[in-house]
Amino acid sequence: TSYNVAILGATGAVGTRMIEQLETSSIPVKTVKFLASKRSVGKVLRFKGQDVKVEEATPEVFRGVDLVLSSAGGSVSKKLLPAAVKAGAVCVDNTSAFRMDPNVPLVIPEVNRAALAQHQGIIANPNCSTIQMLVALAPIYRQYGLKQIVVSTYQAVSGAGQSAINELLQQTQQYLKQEPLTANILPTKNDIKHYPQAFNLLPQIDVFEDSGYTHEEWKMIHETKKILLADPDATQIKVTATCVRVPVVIGHGESVYFTVTDQTATTTQIRDLLAKSPGIVVQDDTRQQFYPQPLNAEGKRETFVGRLRPDLENTGAFNCWVVSDNLLKGAAWNTVQIAECLIEDHLL
Ligand code: A2P
Repeated sequence: TSYNVAILGATGAVGTRMIEQLETSSIPVKTVKFLASKRSVGKVLRFKGQDVKVEEATPEVFRGVDLVLSSAGGSVSKKLLPAAVKAGAVCVDNTSAFRMDPNVPLVIPEVNRAALAQHQGIIANPNCSTIQMLVALAPIYRQYGLKQIVVSTYQAVSGAGQSAINELLQQTQQYLKQEPLTANILPTKNDIKHYPQAFNLLPQIDVFEDSGYTHEEWKMIHETKKILLADPDATQIKVTATCVRVPVVIGHGESVYFTVTDQTATTTQIRDLLAKSPGIVVQDDTRQQFYPQPLNAEGKRETFVGRLRPDLENTGAFNCWVVSDNLLKGAAWNTVQIAECLIEDHLL
């Protein structure tokens, strides 16, 4: 069998990667539909050497579609995916629209693939920062138990979409020409004030909650629990996060501090465990100055882990540095990988 696939948000930063990841995936594709807003109707994109015209995303357009890969924003998913499910499609959604819905599996294939079996038409892709952190930590959680995670992120602007990439590049040129920097998108489209990102750090990703945390930080805490605590032998886990946008185009970095339950776990054992775990590449040799960097992770599907070292003043506690391409493992690849798993597991 082969499948009729629709990509919702096909013209965006993630959508264009979804097209590439689908082209190089094991999914047998019968037809593709590339969907975006009215603004993009008439645009032509390529799929496996063929021209494909972009169509407007409407509830009617999903007739005959088997699989929807979606990344056009939460409100678009909320509006259109129920219609796609009604038309018989299975949707893998990269937005936050359905992530915390108890009827929607939130899946990282390396971590909780089994949850796919519970799907009722929609499967959610976790937040990009959550995905790369849990690819790295889930093997440690399973082998040694995790008591606490303290994470600080260094997030690339592409996580905020193509318009944020354009804004950083424009501000960089303005800065070099000693012109005033214009800011209209970052830190987040949905808030009132905007600040320059070029040559700057913005400790705000998404909007603030009453708790004083941003919604991005909230996602890292609660998505982690939804994904890990579904384990039959799950133990409680404490998570806290600080999310920072940095002037990098592609590739999120994360400084991750974690404490394990099994106090006998050593740095060498954890490094060996990570090296043989799926989706992880260990890049950790301080004598050779070898560690993960966003520029090297760009275009790769794996999550890169380095700088693994014990907390010298607390036993059972470690620091590490985790980098991944936020548009691939953090978004487009995880989505396409979920679709591959659905097919392999006879769930599509
Ligand atoms: P368009 O290019 O027509 O605006 P990004 O994350 O890079 O900002 O991309 C967002 C994606 O979501 C784009 O493909 C964009 O299409 C699409 N999109 C935005 N708003 C809508 C909408 N109301 N209906 C359908 N697609 C939308």
